[in-house]
Amino acid sequence: MALKITVIGTGYLGATHAAAMAELGFEVLGLDVVPEKIEMLKRGEVPMYEPGLEELLRKHVAGIEGSSGRLRFTMDWAEVGEFGDVHFVCVNTPQKHGEYACDMSYVDAAFESLAPHLHGPALVVGKSTVPVGSAERLAARLAELAPAGEDAELAWNPEFLREGFAVGDTLHPDRIVVGVRSERAEKLLREVYATPVTAGSPFVVTDFPTAELVKTSANSFLATKISFINAMAEVCEAADGDVVKLAEAIGHDERIGKKFLRAGIGFGGGCLPKDIRAFMARAGELGADQALTFLREIDSINMRQRGQMVELTREALGGGSFLGKRVAVLGAAFKPDSDDVRDSPALNVAGQIHLQGGQVTVYDPKGMDNARRLFPTLAYADSAIEAVRGADVVLHLTEWREFRELDPAVLGEAVTTRLVLDGRNALDPEAWRRAGWTYRAMGRPTA
Ligand code: UGA
Repeated sequence: MALKITVIGTGYLGATHAAAMAELGFEVLGLDVVPEKIEMLKRGEVPMYEPGLEELLRKHVAGIEGSSGRLRFTMDWAEVGEFGDVHFVCVNTPQKHGEYACDMSYVDAAFESLAPHLHGPALVVGKSTVPVGSAERLAARLAELAPAGEDAELAWNPEFLREGFAVGDTLHPDRIVVGVRSERAEKLLREVYATPVTAGSPFVVTDFPTAELVKTSANSFLATKISFINAMAEVCEAADGDVVKLAEAIGHDERIGKKFLRAGIGFGGGCLPKDIRAFMARAGELGADQALTFLREIDSINMRQRGQMVELTREALGGGSFLGKRVAVLGAAFKPDSDDVRDSPALNVAGQIHLQGGQVTVYDPKGMDNARRLFPTLAYADSAIEAVRGADVVLHLTEWREFRELDPAVLGEAVTTRLVLDGRNALDPEAWRRAGWTYRAMGRPTA
């Protein structure tokens, strides 16, 4: 009989995982503690913008015409405990307020709520990004709380999906990593992931701590790559070099690779920044803080880019104060194809200029509602052309395709001054210059 799967926590990770499990043919029950989220999901609506996710949900959510009916949602822990052979815990682990460490309260609460309802054999699989050592602690807690005793087992299976590509990354993962303590757990997870494994996804079996570390070290490596190229951008600024050419040239070396070498205002979002901080905090607790002190530098290079974008803007406007200057900001999401504005470099730059007296107007294709909630004092426009109307300078801060496809000549008619600063090194300098713009990007003083 096909395995029955539950997914606890229906945010980015959970909603996508639940839909993907249904797509793979399993009966799936999703749980969240937020009633509004559950109500939306039951109607086949997604609480965030993620390309392809709504379609996938609607294909499977029970009660929607033409759906497979394999995916249902509930708020009832007893129902979840009763239903599932495999329970995926997908709740978030944000940064603790005022600390680097990660807040485990949602994960802990999920285990405390689920475990007492596990009366028979079950595998609980943690997917949340957690400090190394958490799985061992949670396994002990599970054994204590579950009526099934040893039959309720834990595994750790970190998730590597990227926002904007969540559906593809989940259905066709570039690797599946499982931390297990028994053959039974491994066998169950091989069954869950049989389809992607057959299609070629590597399946890496390891212990708990290594599985937890794979996730945080992967995100640390990615953050390091971005801060590395941004450090090179700073040097290019000082030495009249061109960081885009530099990245292209070093990227030809296969050991380095081209990906994740886009210089600009740096990384943000709900993962990379908090993950490297939580990793440092955890290493400190383990007495291995020296090993990760470099991440402090990665973090500070990253945060510095935002300030540098502000200074580049000030300089381009002739130096001095932003008072009375009209600044158009294209982009609010932390990256394109997402409406997520958590720790968004674009909004951070917009906010800094606004706080220094600039009249900032922001436009983003999908992130407007979230941006308004976070920064209600900024001005918002309904389109790129409205945002740039009367602007003294245009800042390109999130590289949406829509912005790359803008016609600089048309935009030029709307602005006061044809001055564009590319914070993502993603616009075509030639096209903008041909339309009479002054183009300036980070790390390319002469390009
Ligand atoms: C990241 C990882 O890429 C995923 O593998 C991981 O699963 C996920 O975090 C997570 O921990 O859940 P995500 O936050 O969706 O995924 O976004 P990325 O595509 O990694 O981009 C992160 C930030 O880096 C964005 O602000 C982006 O603009 C920036 N970035 C990316 C650069 O500044 N330069 C680059 O070359 C690439």
